[in-house]
Amino acid sequence: MVIDLRSDTVTKPSAAMREAMANADVGDDVYGEDPTINSLEARVAHLFGKESGLFTPTGSMANQLGIRLLVNPGEELLAEEDAHVVRAELGAAAAHGGITTRTWRAARGALDAHTPLAMARPNAGPYLVSTKAIAVEDTHNFGGGTVQGIDQIKALYDGAQEMGISLHLDGARIWNAHIASGTALNEYGRYFESISVCLSKGLGAPVGSVLLGSAANIARARVWRKRLGGGMRQVGVLGAAGHFALDHNISRLAEDHQNARVLAEAIHAVAPSAVDPQFVQSNIIGLNLKEIGMTAAQLADAAKQEELLISALGPRYARLVTHLDVSRSSITTAAEILVSILKGR
Ligand SMILES: Cc1ncc(COP(=O)(O)O)c(C=O)c1O
Repeated sequence: MVIDLRSDTVTKPSAAMREAMANADVGDDVYGEDPTINSLEARVAHLFGKESGLFTPTGSMANQLGIRLLVNPGEELLAEEDAHVVRAELGAAAAHGGITTRTWRAARGALDAHTPLAMARPNAGPYLVSTKAIAVEDTHNFGGGTVQGIDQIKALYDGAQEMGISLHLDGARIWNAHIASGTALNEYGRYFESISVCLSKGLGAPVGSVLLGSAANIARARVWRKRLGGGMRQVGVLGAAGHFALDHNISRLAEDHQNARVLAEAIHAVAPSAVDPQFVQSNIIGLNLKEIGMTAAQLADAAKQEELLISALGPRYARLVTHLDVSRSSITTAAEILVSILKGR
């Protein structure tokens, strides 16, 4: 059987989740009449202490709608250079929103509030671009699942407040950060004006994200979602999967984190420079192959021959992601396969 560690987006809805989807109460969501979506939006908003929520088909759309709320055309968003919003949304902030971005570099994507605060120029007048918002990704995907320190988030919020700059949270995996750090979900809600969360990553729903913010901002985002073609009709069939994911799949993320640590320790034992298990804080393992005698593509190809799928994200950077469709025994098998490849290199 193939073991797929390329991403936590590869999970398939369980039989019980499918049953919940089949039985969903639905209506036309563009008319605001889908009860399952209405309750899901209210539920997620409540979890984070925000006024309103908006269901979107993707995390990318939730991010981009959120950023658009905070930054006008010709104004600036700051983000870490490996952030999904700048690296993996295909220039959407510029292409759709006329927004410029400036980036900072952080080892493993870990936030040090001082860095973006030092770059920010809130009212740059008629000569320079004015900074309007700062984006934080938690957990940080390309950083290897890094969980952001709440003290740094708070320091960023305090500094940004003084300058009149807003914060956006790309919380595609905020559930993982919450479980790993113990930070309450509504604490994140205090610091970020807009928050995007995904139901389709570690929580295992097939589709769906939610954008959170003030009632006024979410009303504006609802207009933009429709304008971009994201107004959906009887979408409660997907909303029911989201409810199911929230009911059943949050606390179990701790298992995925333990599995990631087990895998990282096995790899570290034979290739210490590839990964430091202490930095494996959630369900993502970034493998740095610079000192290993093989490229990420070679490692991925060798693993594939043993029916183990991993991602080669850079010439010397591979990524493994644990999730609810991979059991501990599959993790043991995956570890054996990778150890044997790395030993034979
Ligand atoms: C950190 C992060 N943000 C946003 C997204 C976007 O989600 P989607 O693929 O639903 O657009 C992803 C997707 O992997 C992600 O990893």
